Amino acid sequence: MSTNEKNITGQELVGYVHRFIAASGSVADQQPTPTLLLLHGTGGTEEDLLSLGNMLFPGAAMLSPRGNVLEDGMSRFFRRLAEGVFDLDDLHRRTGELTAFVRAAAETYHFDPSNVIAVGYSNGANIAASMLLSSPGVLRGAILLRPMVPFIPDQLPDLSGTSVFVSAGRMDPIVPQAQTEQLIQLLQQAGASVHANWLNGGHGIGLEDVRAARSWLVTNL
Ligand code: MLT
Repeated sequence: MSTNEKNITGQELVGYVHRFIAASGSVADQQPTPTLLLLHGTGGTEEDLLSLGNMLFPGAAMLSPRGNVLEDGMSRFFRRLAEGVFDLDDLHRRTGELTAFVRAAAETYHFDPSNVIAVGYSNGANIAASMLLSSPGVLRGAILLRPMVPFIPDQLPDLSGTSVFVSAGRMDPIVPQAQTEQLIQLLQQAGASVHANWLNGGHGIGLEDVRAARSWLVTNL
């Protein structure tokens, strides 16, 4: 572990095994710089998206929690009843927990809580979308890779000023195209600026996602 990495500290951070990597190189001297909140897919760990984060924004600070729900030994960020059928009570509870964790981590690690960009894949993208739809202001922006509609809010939040990049696969066997379209529509109706990146791929992500997300990040944030 290098000197700019830290383990769990502080009572408030209990609940998520995680990695925090402070900004480094020339990025550390620039202000303001975002902190990437890395949210892995089902069965992943806090290590999974570190290299993706580094490719997207070399030298940026990264906060990477491990989902605190277990499904047959696989870590997730919230419970589901079946593939694509979410336990909404648990989703709302876990969304609140993750939001509180990010706020506590900002104090512990001294990063700007108003400059957090989520980078989520699959289940991680779904909880990031849930954070956007439940707690406007927690995320400045989000890169959602293969997301679904986590839930439909009774009242849309005000997401004006929030930028979202959505990357979807037209042949995704887990996320039907209509789900992604509905999520994009919900976010736009809430006032977010949304960029959709449609690829002729499936649920797995690759270099095409990374390249598009990176150029979106450079241009938009
Ligand atoms: C979910 O459960 O969040 C989605 O179905 C994606 C997945 O994790 O398979």
